[in-house]
Amino acid sequence: MTTYESLKERLKSQPATWLITGVAGFIGSNLLETLLKLNQKVVGLDNFATGHAYNFDKVKAAVSADQWSAFRFIEGDIRDLQTCHDACNGVDYVLHQAALGSVPRSLTDPITTNECNISGFLNMLVAGRDAQVKRFVYAASSSTYGDHPGLPKVEDKTGNPLSPYAVTKLVNEHYAQVFARCYDFNTIGLRYFNIFGQRQDPNGAYAAVIPKWVASMIDRDDVFINGDGETSRDFCYIDNAVQANLLAATTTNPDAANQVYNVAVGDRTSLNQLFTKIRDILADRFTYLSDLTPVYRDFRAGDVRHSLADIEKAKNLLGYQPSHNIDQGLTEAMSWYIDDLTS
Ligand SMILES: NC(=O)c1ccc[n+]([C@@H]2O[C@H](COP(=O)([O-])OP(=O)(O)OC[C@H]3O[C@@H](n4cnc5c(N)ncnc54)[C@H](O)[C@@H]3O)[C@@H](O)[C@H]2O)c1
Repeated sequence: MTTYESLKERLKSQPATWLITGVAGFIGSNLLETLLKLNQKVVGLDNFATGHAYNFDKVKAAVSADQWSAFRFIEGDIRDLQTCHDACNGVDYVLHQAALGSVPRSLTDPITTNECNISGFLNMLVAGRDAQVKRFVYAASSSTYGDHPGLPKVEDKTGNPLSPYAVTKLVNEHYAQVFARCYDFNTIGLRYFNIFGQRQDPNGAYAAVIPKWVASMIDRDDVFINGDGETSRDFCYIDNAVQANLLAATTTNPDAANQVYNVAVGDRTSLNQLFTKIRDILADRFTYLSDLTPVYRDFRAGDVRHSLADIEKAKNLLGYQPSHNIDQGLTEAMSWYIDDLTS
Protein backbone atom coordinates (compact mmCIF):
# COMPACT_ATOMS: atom_id res chain seq x y z
CA MET A 1 0.00 0.00 0.00
CA THR A 2 1.16 3.55 -0.78
CA THR A 3 2.55 5.31 2.28
CA TYR A 4 1.98 9.02 2.73
CA GLU A 5 5.71 9.71 2.27
CA SER A 6 5.86 7.82 -1.03
CA LEU A 7 2.63 9.47 -2.20
CA LYS A 8 4.12 12.92 -1.59
CA GLU A 9 7.26 11.98 -3.53
CA ARG A 10 5.16 10.70 -6.43
CA LEU A 11 2.92 13.79 -6.52
CA LYS A 12 5.91 16.14 -6.70
CA SER A 13 6.74 14.82 -10.15
CA GLN A 14 3.14 14.22 -11.29
CA PRO A 15 1.10 17.40 -11.03
CA ALA A 16 -2.67 16.96 -11.00
CA THR A 17 -5.42 19.57 -10.70
CA TRP A 18 -7.26 19.73 -7.39
CA LEU A 19 -10.34 21.69 -6.37
CA ILE A 20 -10.51 22.70 -2.72
CA THR A 21 -13.83 24.19 -1.65
CA GLY A 22 -13.67 26.16 1.59
CA VAL A 23 -10.09 27.00 0.62
CA ALA A 24 -9.99 30.21 2.70
CA GLY A 25 -10.88 28.32 5.86
CA PHE A 26 -8.83 26.42 8.39
CA ILE A 27 -8.64 22.94 6.84
CA GLY A 28 -8.94 24.18 3.26
CA SER A 29 -6.00 26.59 3.55
CA ASN A 30 -3.84 23.86 5.06
CA LEU A 31 -4.73 21.54 2.19
CA LEU A 32 -3.83 24.35 -0.19
CA GLU A 33 -0.43 24.88 1.42
CA THR A 34 0.46 21.18 1.30
CA LEU A 35 -0.68 20.69 -2.29
CA LEU A 36 1.15 23.77 -3.58
CA LYS A 37 4.31 22.61 -1.81
CA LEU A 38 3.91 19.33 -3.72
CA ASN A 39 3.82 21.26 -7.03
CA GLN A 40 0.13 20.58 -7.62
CA LYS A 41 -2.29 22.84 -9.48
CA VAL A 42 -5.09 24.03 -7.21
CA VAL A 43 -8.41 25.69 -7.91
CA GLY A 44 -9.98 27.13 -4.76
CA LEU A 45 -13.58 28.12 -4.13
CA ASP A 46 -14.84 30.09 -1.13
CA ASN A 47 -17.41 32.77 -0.30
CA PHE A 48 -15.54 34.01 2.82
CA ALA A 49 -18.52 33.16 5.05
CA THR A 50 -16.11 32.01 7.78
CA GLY A 51 -12.82 31.89 5.85
CA HIS A 52 -10.41 34.79 5.44
CA ALA A 53 -8.32 36.25 2.60
CA TYR A 54 -5.46 36.69 5.10
CA ASN A 55 -5.12 32.90 5.16
CA PHE A 56 -4.01 33.17 1.53
CA ASP A 57 -1.31 35.65 2.53
CA LYS A 58 0.02 33.11 5.01
CA VAL A 59 0.02 30.31 2.42
CA LYS A 60 1.64 32.57 -0.16
CA ALA A 61 4.43 33.33 2.31
CA ALA A 62 4.98 29.60 2.93
CA VAL A 63 5.38 28.51 -0.72
CA SER A 64 7.59 29.57 -3.63
CA ALA A 65 6.42 32.13 -6.22
CA ASP A 66 6.15 29.34 -8.82
CA GLN A 67 4.07 27.20 -6.50
CA TRP A 68 1.79 30.13 -5.65
CA SER A 69 1.22 30.81 -9.37
CA ALA A 70 -0.37 27.32 -9.63
CA PHE A 71 -3.30 28.51 -7.47
CA ARG A 72 -6.47 29.94 -9.04
CA PHE A 73 -9.09 31.33 -6.70
CA ILE A 74 -12.80 31.65 -7.45
CA GLU A 75 -14.77 33.77 -5.01
CA GLY A 76 -18.17 32.14 -5.09
CA ASP A 77 -20.84 30.21 -3.28
CA ILE A 78 -21.53 26.47 -3.45
CA ARG A 79 -25.24 27.29 -3.24
CA ASP A 80 -24.91 28.40 -6.88
CA LEU A 81 -24.78 25.37 -9.21
CA GLN A 82 -23.12 27.22 -12.10
CA THR A 83 -20.30 28.32 -9.78
CA CYS A 84 -19.76 24.68 -8.82
CA HIS A 85 -19.70 23.63 -12.48
CA ASP A 86 -17.15 26.34 -13.29
CA ALA A 87 -14.97 25.32 -10.36
CA CYS A 88 -15.01 21.59 -11.26
CA ASN A 89 -14.08 22.15 -14.90
CA GLY A 90 -10.82 20.28 -15.72
CA VAL A 91 -10.31 19.07 -12.15
CA ASP A 92 -8.91 15.63 -11.25
CA TYR A 93 -9.68 15.54 -7.52
CA VAL A 94 -12.19 17.43 -5.40
CA LEU A 95 -11.55 18.05 -1.70
CA HIS A 96 -14.90 19.46 -0.59
CA GLN A 97 -14.50 21.33 2.70
CA ALA A 98 -16.93 24.23 2.28
CA ALA A 99 -19.71 24.12 4.86
CA LEU A 100 -20.97 26.05 7.84
CA GLY A 101 -19.38 24.29 10.79
CA SER A 102 -20.38 24.46 14.44
CA VAL A 103 -23.21 22.77 16.30
CA PRO A 104 -24.32 25.99 18.09
CA ARG A 105 -24.45 27.93 14.80
CA SER A 106 -26.74 25.28 13.36
CA LEU A 107 -29.04 25.50 16.38
CA THR A 108 -29.26 29.29 15.93
CA ASP A 109 -29.67 29.20 12.14
CA PRO A 110 -30.62 25.74 10.86
CA ILE A 111 -31.87 27.12 7.53
CA THR A 112 -28.57 28.60 6.34
CA THR A 113 -26.67 25.60 7.65
CA ASN A 114 -29.00 23.36 5.65
CA GLU A 115 -28.66 25.46 2.48
CA CYS A 116 -24.85 25.46 2.54
CA ASN A 117 -24.25 21.99 3.91
CA ILE A 118 -26.93 20.04 2.05
CA SER A 119 -27.99 22.02 -1.05
CA GLY A 120 -24.42 23.24 -1.55
CA PHE A 121 -23.10 19.72 -1.09
CA LEU A 122 -25.56 18.35 -3.64
CA ASN A 123 -24.53 21.06 -6.12
CA MET A 124 -20.91 20.03 -5.68
CA LEU A 125 -21.74 16.35 -6.18
CA VAL A 126 -23.63 17.12 -9.41
CA ALA A 127 -20.84 19.37 -10.66
CA GLY A 128 -18.15 16.81 -9.79
CA ARG A 129 -20.11 14.05 -11.46
CA ASP A 130 -20.69 16.08 -14.63
CA ALA A 131 -17.00 17.05 -14.80
CA GLN A 132 -16.09 13.36 -14.35
CA VAL A 133 -13.59 14.09 -11.60
CA LYS A 134 -11.56 11.04 -10.55
CA ARG A 135 -12.62 11.23 -6.91
CA PHE A 136 -14.74 13.44 -4.68
CA VAL A 137 -13.41 13.52 -1.12
CA TYR A 138 -15.62 15.40 1.34
CA ALA A 139 -15.51 16.61 4.91
CA ALA A 140 -17.85 14.43 6.94
CA SER A 141 -18.04 14.68 10.73
CA SER A 142 -17.82 12.71 13.96
CA SER A 143 -21.14 14.39 14.86
CA THR A 144 -22.73 11.66 12.73
CA TYR A 145 -22.24 9.27 15.67
CA GLY A 146 -24.89 11.29 17.53
CA ASP A 147 -26.31 9.49 20.53
CA HIS A 148 -24.69 6.11 19.83
CA PRO A 149 -23.14 5.15 23.18
CA GLY A 150 -20.35 2.90 21.83
CA LEU A 151 -16.69 3.88 22.34
CA PRO A 152 -14.51 3.87 20.37
CA LYS A 153 -16.64 5.00 17.43
CA VAL A 154 -16.63 2.51 14.56
CA GLU A 155 -17.75 3.73 11.14
CA ASP A 156 -20.78 1.48 10.70
CA LYS A 157 -22.32 2.09 14.14
CA THR A 158 -24.02 5.49 14.19
CA GLY A 159 -26.86 6.81 16.33
CA ASN A 160 -29.40 9.61 16.00
CA PRO A 161 -28.08 13.09 15.12
CA LEU A 162 -28.10 15.56 18.04
CA SER A 163 -28.09 18.85 16.09
CA PRO A 164 -29.09 20.32 12.72
CA TYR A 165 -25.37 20.37 11.82
CA ALA A 166 -25.14 16.63 12.47
CA VAL A 167 -28.18 16.03 10.25
CA THR A 168 -26.48 17.87 7.38
CA LYS A 169 -23.32 15.79 7.68
CA LEU A 170 -25.34 12.57 7.81
CA VAL A 171 -27.32 13.59 4.71
CA ASN A 172 -24.01 14.27 2.91
CA GLU A 173 -22.99 10.68 3.48
CA HIS A 174 -26.32 9.39 2.18
CA TYR A 175 -26.08 11.55 -0.94
CA ALA A 176 -22.51 10.44 -1.61
CA GLN A 177 -23.52 6.79 -1.31
CA VAL A 178 -26.50 7.31 -3.62
CA PHE A 179 -24.28 9.02 -6.21
CA ALA A 180 -21.94 6.03 -6.07
CA ARG A 181 -24.84 3.63 -6.56
CA CYS A 182 -26.85 5.55 -9.14
CA TYR A 183 -24.15 7.31 -11.16
CA ASP A 184 -21.06 5.21 -10.45
CA PHE A 185 -19.53 8.36 -8.94
CA ASN A 186 -16.40 7.86 -6.84
CA THR A 187 -16.53 9.44 -3.36
CA ILE A 188 -14.84 9.14 0.02
CA GLY A 189 -16.10 10.78 3.22
CA LEU A 190 -13.72 11.73 6.01
CA ARG A 191 -15.35 11.95 9.42
CA TYR A 192 -13.14 14.52 11.09
CA PHE A 193 -12.85 14.43 14.89
CA ASN A 194 -12.01 17.87 16.37
CA ILE A 195 -9.24 18.94 14.01
CA PHE A 196 -6.92 21.66 15.32
CA GLY A 197 -3.81 23.55 14.21
CA GLN A 198 -2.50 26.63 12.43
CA ARG A 199 -5.06 29.04 10.95
CA GLN A 200 -8.02 27.70 12.94
CA ASP A 201 -9.94 30.87 13.72
CA PRO A 202 -9.85 31.92 17.41
CA ASN A 203 -12.45 34.65 16.89
CA GLY A 204 -16.21 34.73 16.84
CA ALA A 205 -19.05 33.14 18.74
CA TYR A 206 -18.52 29.78 17.05
CA ALA A 207 -14.75 29.40 17.45
CA ALA A 208 -13.46 25.90 18.26
CA VAL A 209 -12.27 25.18 21.77
CA ILE A 210 -8.49 25.08 21.25
CA PRO A 211 -7.98 28.41 19.42
CA LYS A 212 -10.59 30.06 21.64
CA TRP A 213 -8.82 28.99 24.83
CA VAL A 214 -5.37 29.89 23.51
CA ALA A 215 -6.54 33.39 22.61
CA SER A 216 -8.32 33.83 25.96
CA MET A 217 -5.27 32.70 27.91
CA ILE A 218 -2.89 34.99 26.03
CA ASP A 219 -5.33 37.91 26.41
CA ARG A 220 -5.82 37.15 30.15
CA ASP A 221 -9.56 36.57 29.60
CA ASP A 222 -11.58 33.96 31.49
CA VAL A 223 -11.43 30.45 30.03
CA PHE A 224 -14.83 28.77 30.14
CA ILE A 225 -15.46 25.05 30.31
CA ASN A 226 -18.98 24.00 29.35
CA GLY A 227 -20.06 21.37 31.88
CA ASP A 228 -17.87 19.56 34.40
CA GLY A 229 -14.82 19.29 32.14
CA GLU A 230 -15.01 15.52 31.87
CA THR A 231 -16.49 15.76 28.36
CA SER A 232 -13.85 14.21 26.11
CA ARG A 233 -12.76 14.44 22.50
CA ASP A 234 -10.33 12.77 20.10
CA PHE A 235 -8.36 15.93 19.20
CA CYS A 236 -6.62 15.50 15.85
CA TYR A 237 -3.80 17.66 14.50
CA ILE A 238 -4.28 19.26 11.07
CA ASP A 239 -1.38 17.37 9.45
CA ASN A 240 -3.24 14.11 10.08
CA ALA A 241 -6.35 15.47 8.35
CA VAL A 242 -4.32 16.69 5.36
CA GLN A 243 -2.69 13.28 5.10
CA ALA A 244 -6.09 11.54 5.11
CA ASN A 245 -7.35 13.78 2.30
CA LEU A 246 -4.39 13.12 0.02
CA LEU A 247 -4.48 9.38 0.64
CA ALA A 248 -8.25 9.25 0.11
CA ALA A 249 -8.11 11.22 -3.15
CA THR A 250 -5.42 9.09 -4.73
CA THR A 251 -5.90 5.59 -3.35
CA THR A 252 -6.07 2.86 -5.96
CA ASN A 253 -7.29 0.25 -3.49
CA PRO A 254 -10.66 -0.84 -4.96
CA ASP A 255 -12.02 -1.62 -1.48
CA ALA A 256 -11.26 1.91 -0.28
CA ALA A 257 -13.60 3.83 -2.61
CA ASN A 258 -17.12 4.89 -1.68
CA GLN A 259 -16.53 4.54 2.03
CA VAL A 260 -16.45 6.83 5.05
CA TYR A 261 -13.48 6.91 7.43
CA ASN A 262 -12.78 8.25 10.89
CA VAL A 263 -9.98 10.80 10.82
CA ALA A 264 -8.58 11.11 14.31
CA VAL A 265 -5.74 9.83 16.48
CA GLY A 266 -7.53 7.16 18.51
CA ASP A 267 -6.89 8.86 21.85
CA ARG A 268 -9.31 10.66 24.16
CA THR A 269 -8.60 13.86 26.12
CA SER A 270 -11.04 15.45 28.58
CA LEU A 271 -11.59 19.21 28.53
CA ASN A 272 -9.98 19.41 31.99
CA GLN A 273 -6.89 17.64 30.65
CA LEU A 274 -6.87 19.84 27.55
CA PHE A 275 -7.01 22.96 29.70
CA THR A 276 -3.98 21.82 31.69
CA LYS A 277 -2.00 20.87 28.56
CA ILE A 278 -2.57 24.24 26.87
CA ARG A 279 -1.99 26.25 30.03
CA ASP A 280 1.26 24.42 30.78
CA ILE A 281 2.67 24.89 27.26
CA LEU A 282 1.76 28.59 27.25
CA ALA A 283 2.97 29.18 30.81
CA ASP A 284 6.57 28.65 29.63
CA ARG A 285 6.23 31.93 27.74
CA PHE A 286 3.41 33.66 29.66
CA THR A 287 4.32 32.99 33.28
CA TYR A 288 1.15 34.69 34.58
CA LEU A 289 -0.76 31.62 33.37
CA SER A 290 0.94 29.09 35.62
CA ASP A 291 -1.85 29.03 38.25
CA LEU A 292 -4.78 29.81 35.94
CA THR A 293 -7.98 27.86 36.63
CA PRO A 294 -11.01 27.52 34.32
CA VAL A 295 -14.51 28.92 34.89
CA TYR A 296 -17.15 26.19 34.71
CA ARG A 297 -20.58 26.89 33.24
CA ASP A 298 -23.57 24.90 31.92
CA PHE A 299 -23.26 22.04 29.47
CA ARG A 300 -23.82 23.15 25.85
CA ALA A 301 -26.92 21.93 23.97
CA GLY A 302 -26.32 19.45 21.17
CA ASP A 303 -22.85 18.34 22.33
CA VAL A 304 -22.00 14.66 22.61
CA ARG A 305 -20.42 13.63 25.92
CA HIS A 306 -17.51 11.52 24.75
CA SER A 307 -15.81 11.06 21.43
CA LEU A 308 -13.07 8.61 20.59
CA ALA A 309 -12.38 7.14 17.17
CA ASP A 310 -11.42 3.70 16.04
CA ILE A 311 -9.01 4.52 13.18
CA GLU A 312 -8.32 0.96 12.02
CA LYS A 313 -10.40 1.31 8.84
CA ALA A 314 -8.41 4.32 7.59
CA LYS A 315 -5.16 2.60 8.54
CA ASN A 316 -6.05 -0.64 6.79
CA LEU A 317 -7.70 0.65 3.61
CA LEU A 318 -6.00 4.01 3.06
CA GLY A 319 -2.62 3.49 4.73
CA TYR A 320 -3.38 6.38 7.14
CA GLN A 321 -0.82 6.73 9.95
CA PRO A 322 -1.33 9.83 12.11
CA SER A 323 1.98 11.69 12.31
CA HIS A 324 1.07 13.73 15.40
CA ASN A 325 -0.59 12.84 18.70
CA ILE A 326 -2.32 15.58 20.68
CA ASP A 327 0.81 16.68 22.56
CA GLN A 328 2.94 16.92 19.42
CA GLY A 329 0.14 18.76 17.66
CA LEU A 330 -0.45 21.19 20.52
CA THR A 331 3.24 22.04 20.73
CA GLU A 332 3.39 22.88 17.00
CA ALA A 333 0.05 24.68 16.99
CA MET A 334 0.96 26.70 20.07
CA SER A 335 4.12 28.17 18.57
CA TRP A 336 2.06 29.21 15.53
CA TYR A 337 -0.66 30.76 17.73
CA ILE A 338 1.87 32.62 19.85
CA ASP A 339 3.42 34.14 16.70
CA ASP A 340 0.05 34.91 15.19
CA LEU A 341 -1.66 36.35 18.26
CA THR A 342 1.24 38.38 19.56
CA SER A 343 2.56 39.84 16.28
N1 LIG B 1 -12.53 21.62 12.20
C1 LIG B 1 -13.09 20.51 12.64
O1 LIG B 1 -12.77 20.02 13.73
C2 LIG B 1 -14.13 19.79 11.83
C3 LIG B 1 -14.73 18.63 12.38
C4 LIG B 1 -15.68 17.96 11.62
C5 LIG B 1 -15.99 18.40 10.34
N2 LIG B 1 -15.42 19.54 9.87
C6 LIG B 1 -15.79 19.98 8.50
O2 LIG B 1 -14.61 20.31 7.79
C7 LIG B 1 -14.88 21.33 6.85
C8 LIG B 1 -13.87 22.46 7.01
O3 LIG B 1 -14.01 22.98 8.33
P1 LIG B 1 -13.03 24.08 8.92
O4 LIG B 1 -12.80 23.73 10.35
O5 LIG B 1 -11.90 24.31 8.01
O6 LIG B 1 -14.01 25.34 8.93
P2 LIG B 1 -13.82 26.81 8.33
O7 LIG B 1 -15.06 27.55 8.75
O8 LIG B 1 -12.51 27.36 8.71
O9 LIG B 1 -13.83 26.54 6.76
C9 LIG B 1 -15.00 26.40 6.00
C10 LIG B 1 -14.84 27.23 4.74
O10 LIG B 1 -15.99 27.05 3.90
C11 LIG B 1 -16.37 28.32 3.40
N3 LIG B 1 -17.80 28.28 3.08
C12 LIG B 1 -18.83 28.13 3.94
N4 LIG B 1 -20.00 28.17 3.29
C13 LIG B 1 -19.69 28.32 1.97
C14 LIG B 1 -20.48 28.46 0.80
N5 LIG B 1 -21.82 28.43 0.86
N6 LIG B 1 -19.85 28.60 -0.38
C15 LIG B 1 -18.47 28.64 -0.45
N7 LIG B 1 -17.69 28.55 0.64
C16 LIG B 1 -18.29 28.39 1.84
C17 LIG B 1 -16.05 29.30 4.52
O11 LIG B 1 -15.94 30.65 4.10
C18 LIG B 1 -14.73 28.72 5.04
O12 LIG B 1 -13.63 29.29 4.38
C19 LIG B 1 -16.34 21.72 7.05
O13 LIG B 1 -17.11 20.98 6.14
C20 LIG B 1 -16.62 21.24 8.46
O14 LIG B 1 -17.99 20.96 8.66
C21 LIG B 1 -14.50 20.24 10.56
